[in-house]
Parts: sequence; C-alpha cells; structure tokens
Amino acid sequence: MLFDYVDGGAGGELTVRENRRAIEAVRLLASAPHDVSTCDTKVSLFGQTLSLPVIIGPTGLASASWPRGELEFAGAAARAGTRYVMPNAASIAPGEVARAAEGNAWFQLYPPPDRELARKWVAQAQDAGISGLEVTVDVAAPGQRLRDARNGFVMPFRWGPKKAFDCALRPVWAMKMLYHGQPTPYLEIDGGKAASAAANQSENRRHRFTRALSWDLLKLLRDEWRGPLLVKGLVDPSQALHAVEAGYDGIVVSNHGGRQLDGAVSSMEVLPEFRAAVGAGFPLLVDGGFQSGVDVVKAIASGATAVQIGRVGVFALATAGGQGVDHLLGLFRAEIENTMALCGVTRLDQLGPHCIRPQSWRSFEC
Ligand SMILES: Cc1cc2nc3c(=O)[nH]c(=O)nc-3n(C[C@H](O)[C@H](O)[C@H](O)COP(=O)(O)O)c2cc1C
Repeated sequence: MLFDYVDGGAGGELTVRENRRAIEAVRLLASAPHDVSTCDTKVSLFGQTLSLPVIIGPTGLASASWPRGELEFAGAAARAGTRYVMPNAASIAPGEVARAAEGNAWFQLYPPPDRELARKWVAQAQDAGISGLEVTVDVAAPGQRLRDARNGFVMPFRWGPKKAFDCALRPVWAMKMLYHGQPTPYLEIDGGKAASAAANQSENRRHRFTRALSWDLLKLLRDEWRGPLLVKGLVDPSQALHAVEAGYDGIVVSNHGGRQLDGAVSSMEVLPEFRAAVGAGFPLLVDGGFQSGVDVVKAIASGATAVQIGRVGVFALATAGGQGVDHLLGLFRAEIENTMALCGVTRLDQLGPHCIRPQSWRSFEC
C-alpha cells in the first residue's frame, strides 16, 4: 500500500512513463580529448553555493517510510551540501527540520483556501529558520491515483482488514510504525479538527487545497516571504513570465511526477521552452523521472539550474533512513562527475544545448 502510494501516479500512469521516456530520449554528445582532471559539481543558487545540483524535493508522508523521515532527509541534505524541501504535510515541526538541515531546509506550501492560514504557516516556517519557499500550484483538482483507490489508501488513514493484512506482511515496518506512532501532519487546519472530522477524502481536500488560485493571489505570498520564493508545478511555458512578473525567484518545472494530470507533457520536454522564456541565469529547477547523474547532466544541458528528486529519495529513505539518502546523494555526485568527464566539461555552467543532440535528431531517430 505504501509502495504503491510512492511509486504510483495518476490514471494509467502515462505521464510517469513519459517523464522517463523524455529523459531517455536525450542523447549526450560525448566529447574528447579534454583535460577533465577535476570536475566540479557545485552550483550557485540564490547567491549561495550548493555542492550538488540535486535537491531533495517535497514528498508528503515521509515519516511513513522511515520514522521521522523528514529529519533524515534534512540531515542528509545538510551533509551533502544541498537543500531539502519539507512538504506542507510533514509530520515534524519546521523548526526541528530547519535545525536538522542546518539552515538548508525549504518549505513547500499548498495554498489553502483560507489566506490567513497560509500567512500563518508561512510566518511559522520563516520564524523557524526555513530558508526558501516553494508554492505548489498543480493541485487544483485531485490526481486520480488508481493504485491508492484500489488499496483504500486515503487520508485521514482508516484501518480495515486488507490494510491490517498488508501491515502483517511487513512486520519490521509495522513494528517501527507502532513504536513511533502513525505519522500525522504537523501543520494542521483548526488544530486537526477539520481533517479528523472530514467524512471522506474530498471533504478533507476542500479544507486543504484551493481551486481558486491566480497570479494575483500568488503575488501576496511575495509580500509575506523574505527569502527565495519558487513556484512548483508548471509545465505550460506560457506561465513562465507570469512567475517572473509576480516576483518569484525561481520555477520548478514539474508535473508532480505524473501524480496529477495523467497525459500531461513531461517536464524534460518543455524545459528548453522555459529556459527560452525566462532567459539565462534565472533559476529553473526541474523534476519528474530523474534517477541518475546522467539524467541530471541531461537536464542541466537542456536548461535546468538544478534537479529535484522525488521517488528515488523516498526509496532510499525507506531502505536505510538517512544513511540510504547519503548513499543515494553520493551516487548522484559520482555519476555527475563521471558524466561531466566523459562529456568533456569540468564545470556545470559549461553544459548547454551544444552538449546534446538537437531535437530533430531525436524525432528522426523515433
Ligand atoms: C510519495 C510522494 C509524495 C509527494 N508529496 C508531495 C507534496 O506533498 N508536495 C509537492 O509539492 N509534491 C509532492 N510530490 C511530488 C514531488 O515533489 C515531485 O514533484 C515528483 O515526485 C517528481 O517526480 P519523481 O518522483 O519521478 O522524481 C510527491 C511525490 C511523491 C512520490
């Protein structure tokens, strides 16, 4: 049930596959001979230096994969010199996450219908020492996650014989959860009353997500937030300049990992259009299907400043907690260095469209 929640996407999971297909379709131009004795994986973002162009993106219910999972993510991000984006639906207080991340934590917000609540959460995150804010905008309607529907995996969690059986099949995990307690969202609406009183999933959603978002509303958050502010969940390049005009400092090109609109275009495919719209230098992050250092190098060559990871991070967490995430980020670092060397570049800012085969070659090949 939990594996399906993490691994699954919306509908027939066409977009989950499309995200991978688009990354796999990019061909890197291996180049030699060059002096690539040292390859530097550092990237500059919002005036700061990240030692790795890989950010741990927001994934709700991390504490269901590993006890106090958000803290494990935060610690791993700090050790790797990158950032962790704690989700709105985290089970740990922003202050604790910020401390574990040693100032390297950002907060992801789903703007709720109640603007005062949005203000309160944002202020809470800011006071807690969270350094960046990502506003997710692609949840105007629920993603139709069929695996979750089949498994009866809904929030608030409800027990039934099938779930009890599922848990019994994973005794080690079940004991951990029993010992640490079922994860519940830390930032609650009405002190949790609304969520627990919600008769069903859609009632619960009504309290948590607004369907009435606009750039005017998103601009209000600019007034509230002092640090880097990003909008997450755009794949329509015509929205890119609106983000810039609304005062946002960065964009996360994302289709929510294919968990919202099934049939949506892949993030990798539209990335070059976003870069063309916002121009050089504007921070553009991308997510959706990135699983290796080669994938990251392809993204940067296609216009990204850095990549956010989703599922791979959760799988690493579920396997070995913070150590699993350390190992994953170490693999990313080694693979990025290796790929840079084979592409003949020593710095990430040397990557660009000249390092990949043009689109026409890809369609010809297809
Ligand atoms: C288990 C899970 C939970 C997620 N929860 C959130 C969330 O709370 N907020 C959000 O903005 N995105 C959420 N996402 C989307 C990720 O931030 C990201 O956009 C997506 O996973 C990237 O695709 P990838 O998993 O293929 O890397 C979630 C993704 C997963 C897999």
